[in-house]
Amino acid sequence: MTYVICEPCVKCKYGDCVEVCPVDCIYEGDDMLYINPDECIDCDACVRACPAEAIFIDDEVPEQWAAYIQINADFAYDGKSPVTSKDDVVKGENWDAETAAKAPQ
Ligand code: SF4
Ligand code: F3S
Repeated sequence: MTYVICEPCVKCKYGDCVEVCPVDCIYEGDDMLYINPDECIDCDACVRACPAEAIFIDDEVPEQWAAYIQINADFAYDGKSPVTSKDDVVKGENWDAETAAKAPQ
């Protein structure tokens, strides 16, 4: 089992999830964040932290986002450091404030 970050994180990247992960297994890509399935301890903390409701346990990922199970697994984790502070999440040119604003609070 592992938890999976899905499409609502794309161009959103609130970053609240990294603040609560007890094992620091969340990593940042250009458009979204990813959970390393080899490190996640299935604690469930990040699910409740994400304002965009982007995170699901793998066997409950909505059908339309099923590809994100593999997308999270395939992220190039080697040599990268996890993100541990929301302040370190880079909301660069790909970040879409309009998308973020639509996320449920
Ligand atoms: Fe981290 Fe727990 Fe979320 Fe896994 S389920 S990514 S260990 S906060
Ligand atoms: Fe993304 Fe939600 Fe974390 S939008 S950065 S999964 S808090």
